[in-house]
Amino acid sequence: MWGGRFAAGPSAIMREINASIPFDKALWRHDIAASQAHVAMLGARGIVAADDARAIAAGLAQIAAEYEADGVPEDWDLEDIHMTTESRLAALIGPVAGRLHTARSRNDQVAADFRMWVRDASRAADAALAAFQTVLVERADEHAATIMPGFTHLQTAQPVTLGHHLMAYYEMAGRDRSRFGAALARMDECPLGAAALAGTGFPIDRHAVAAALGFAAPTANSLDSVSDRDFALDYLAAAAQCALHLSRLAEELILWASQPFGFAVLPDDLSTGSSIMPQKKNPDAAELVRGHSGRIVGALMSLMMTMKGLPLAYSKDMQDDKPPVFEAASLLDLSLAAMTAMIAGTTFRADRMRAAAEAGYATATDLADWLVREGGIPFREAHHITGAAVKLAESRGTALDQVALADLQAIDPRIDARVFAALSVDASVAARTSYGGTAPGEVRKRVAAARQALGMTE
Ligand code: ARG
Repeated sequence: MWGGRFAAGPSAIMREINASIPFDKALWRHDIAASQAHVAMLGARGIVAADDARAIAAGLAQIAAEYEADGVPEDWDLEDIHMTTESRLAALIGPVAGRLHTARSRNDQVAADFRMWVRDASRAADAALAAFQTVLVERADEHAATIMPGFTHLQTAQPVTLGHHLMAYYEMAGRDRSRFGAALARMDECPLGAAALAGTGFPIDRHAVAAALGFAAPTANSLDSVSDRDFALDYLAAAAQCALHLSRLAEELILWASQPFGFAVLPDDLSTGSSIMPQKKNPDAAELVRGHSGRIVGALMSLMMTMKGLPLAYSKDMQDDKPPVFEAASLLDLSLAAMTAMIAGTTFRADRMRAAAEAGYATATDLADWLVREGGIPFREAHHITGAAVKLAESRGTALDQVALADLQAIDPRIDARVFAALSVDASVAARTSYGGTAPGEVRKRVAAARQALGMTE
């Protein structure tokens, strides 16, 4: 394709280091679509004769059918998907194939193909996140009043509801979707027609090509067009944050499924056994989601490092942009599918969660709040009194609401019998009716709003 000025062909090492076809063949659909849009425009503008444009379009359609049926052939000598397709086109229709590359370069070609691939991946991530949110909302609705301990520092803090906890992940997934949406909005410009780096002297119609490929507009600067990979970094940044959320959820399910917690029984079909310990049921899928998140974050770092020192415009380093993005996208797809299935199939042990919430002095804040509300005591002082009550209960090995009234009054005489109504985990949760709070009624409001946002039935 470029041998004109060379006395010798590339060495075996050069061929190997140069070849991107082993991975960029994944771009074949986008490469053919971009070539179809380009040649239609060349024909419409009379840059290529109408007959030639038709022959090229028919040849490209045939190649697409061949790739669909047999896969993309992997010949290192042809370097990448662009040259593989062009060489097949020449074999099919002869020298007229050479007219396809008028007014373009592989630099704008790969920028356009890859952008379209990342656009598809961003849309797929959004759809997978919507499915994940739907399952979270269903389970949150079911468990809007299921009591569990809420933790800070992984220490029992205050009772919350499981529905509230699950809806926290609904919020995270919503932010993830907005990040993919913002990435999509920013990448909605077509680089095709920037040619190698400077634009072209042919009277091309970049707006027509952009529209044909579903972009809002052509990119505005030819140098930026071929050197920009922000769209891939935006995708990876959104994917990395999404993966962190999935990893945190995976970590919680791993903890909850452990015997000391016993809060959750993970679905059998997403767990594995041990070959030596018959009693084991291991949360491997969740552990792998937690593990994959590291590789997805690594993909973001990888592409950032690739791009950080490159002068304008194209450098071959940029060929390394694709493997991390492809890997991250397939790991993210799989992780989202795994966590969606895991949330749908997990059995939550309401009895164990309630027992844990009742065991950990989780309503101590409610005692302090009661002293503030009913006794007019400043919160800091109420906190101190409550600390003494917890210490007493702990020394006796009982729950806070099991301490005798006389003993509580010995700590502070302003306490009276009404306090016990505030000390149950149910009362504690029911009292937290502030906007976004954990009271079952509040959780149900958030669930209803989420159902509406997702277009779910009531
Ligand atoms: N395979 C190349 C890539 O993925 C295509 C662009 C090659 N351009 C060039 N000037 N060598 O980046």
